Amino acid sequence: MTAVPPPATHPIDTSKPHPARVYDWFLGGKDNYPVDEELGRQIESLEPRTKYCAQHNRWFMQRATRRLAGEAGIRQFLDVGTGIPTEPNLHRIAQSAAPDARVVYVDNDPIVLAHAEALLRGTPEGATEFLQVDARTPDRILEQAEGVLDFSRPIALSLIALMHFISDEDGAYDVVERLVAALAPGSYLVLSQMAGDFDPERTRQAVEMYKAGGVTLAPRSRAEVERFFTGLELTAPGIAWLPDWHPELGVDEVRNGTPVPLYAGVARKA
Ligand SMILES: C[S@@+](CC[C@H](N)C(=O)[O-])C[C@H]1O[C@@H](n2cnc3c(N)ncnc32)[C@H](O)[C@@H]1O
Repeated sequence: MTAVPPPATHPIDTSKPHPARVYDWFLGGKDNYPVDEELGRQIESLEPRTKYCAQHNRWFMQRATRRLAGEAGIRQFLDVGTGIPTEPNLHRIAQSAAPDARVVYVDNDPIVLAHAEALLRGTPEGATEFLQVDARTPDRILEQAEGVLDFSRPIALSLIALMHFISDEDGAYDVVERLVAALAPGSYLVLSQMAGDFDPERTRQAVEMYKAGGVTLAPRSRAEVERFFTGLELTAPGIAWLPDWHPELGVDEVRNGTPVPLYAGVARKA
């Protein structure tokens, strides 16, 4: 893995766009700055479906969490790359199915920390915690999460719309491997990721736009996404286009059939 910045204690930098804030703009949130909106508008002019895709990504998080806290019986969640709180947040979904669910959120962006209070209002029976840690330092995540989660029992690790901000050169596959290695049998990996093979030319332009804003974007092909699940048992329907991952679990989703160029998958550790 390459050099990683020290633990982020730096103040919010409004001079350049940040993925969490650009995503917040796509979702219609208020926790973004003109630089974030500017990049968001550029991306939207390139790909008019972007806001719809961002909303679909949230719905995938909700469906996957509902299924894992429900029929899969998972009671512990480690959500890395959480984003600025957007209702309903993951702990709300998990704790409505299982009030005793314990949730650890992780993000490296100081703006997420600034809003973390909303992530910490959980049930009295359960637990919620926020860690400001860079995903490229998985050992640091594991050390800090240990205070809340019991790694001898199953955990759902969610890396939702995170890995396309971590390049191969920055150790994307090592990060996932390290985190998954720490999980007990019966745990799950939930992952969504921007596709690189849906519309390669437009994707290339999006990568350039993010790069001009100082943000690394690493879209991946289906095979490259599948590689994140190496050694795990993919649950049906395997790696799917995000809206096609168990649409029957959706609640209040407003779909219009527009393609969403993100892959999604959920796999179990045997
Ligand atoms: C597109 S948002 C996804 C938020 C949420 N997971 C969801 O799907 O709705 C990506 C999040 O990943 C975070 N992120 C990007 N790179 C990261 C890194 N190296 N370490 C931790 N978080 C990171 C960003 O700050 C942002 O909040």
